[in-house]
Amino acid sequence: MFNTVEILDDGTVRFIDQRKLPTEEVFVDCCDCDSVYNAIKDMVVRGAPAIGVAAAAGVAVGVNCIDTEDMDLFKIEVNKICDHLVSSRPTAVNLFWAIERMRNLVAKSSADSVSKLKGEISHEAAKVLKEDREINKSMAYIGAELIDDGDVILTHCNAGALATSGGYGTALGVIKAAHEQGKNIEVYADETRPFLQGARLTAWELLKEGIKANLITDNMAGYFMNKGVIKKIIVGADRIAANGDTANKIGTYSLSVLAKEHNIPLYIVAPLSTIDRNIPDGSHIPIEERPEEEVTHIKGIRVAPEGITIKNPAFDVTPHKNIAAIVTDKGIIRAPFDKGIKELFNK
Ligand code: MRU
Repeated sequence: MFNTVEILDDGTVRFIDQRKLPTEEVFVDCCDCDSVYNAIKDMVVRGAPAIGVAAAAGVAVGVNCIDTEDMDLFKIEVNKICDHLVSSRPTAVNLFWAIERMRNLVAKSSADSVSKLKGEISHEAAKVLKEDREINKSMAYIGAELIDDGDVILTHCNAGALATSGGYGTALGVIKAAHEQGKNIEVYADETRPFLQGARLTAWELLKEGIKANLITDNMAGYFMNKGVIKKIIVGADRIAANGDTANKIGTYSLSVLAKEHNIPLYIVAPLSTIDRNIPDGSHIPIEERPEEEVTHIKGIRVAPEGITIKNPAFDVTPHKNIAAIVTDKGIIRAPFDKGIKELFNK
């Protein structure tokens, strides 16, 4: 098995380079805040929970570079590191959640020296990573109860180990847990243009796990739904609003409309750290626009004419009315989602 994010003994943050997968399995080592920022922005590491863990680790490795014994000065510098990392990508709320957790730790710490506070920060980052693995494993088994023997499941983007710190993942974690339970399942993975997380990453993970899988292009999904092949759709999430509206990889909204037309349940799988209770609905979720080259080029080769205007929104919002259930680490909720989400946080 591989680790998506790893914190080495000296604090170095190691990522498997997801831009290079599946043809090359290489790692990127980050020894300062800037290199972690770039790894998130350039999608060396991607997927909402993985970005959160990476950011926490980025704070820890970043503070090691602060050269002062003055506590007030140190805290000012920590905040600058947090401000920088949090600006790397706008949609996945796990990034904001993780940075907030690190800021809170610093604000509440009673450490009487900078070196002690540095120790607490690196301990907290390691905790964020460990909890992510544990949460995803238990969430996978909670969600697996939705899967029946013989199910054919469509998934979009990559919501596997690569989208978390490692281990199970979110949506793909549910599929892995069902497979481990001995259920006979088959997966259809959308290639997920333009960054090809499905073709490059999900297909790679499914092969490694020995799960029966088919790779399709995004525009084939409706065809297979219409033929009655797809029984369930399971995807992850980058941000879930208080009413259950869910931002996920661009194309998820279209799948949800097709799913409704064909009476196929669409399930979202995400830890509580993906739920943003500060926003009432999906219209408040910031949608990232990614570089034009992701659309105009494939593997560095231009496939579109020079001069054409490009749109590249990386996410869309699926309205809660198109979602059958949301699987979290605290249980499965169904409509009305606003009530279910409130209850989850009071558990
Ligand atoms: O742009 P990405 O690859 O970071 O987008 C990732 C997704 O949209 C995933 O589906 C989402 O983060 C959930 S994965 C646990």
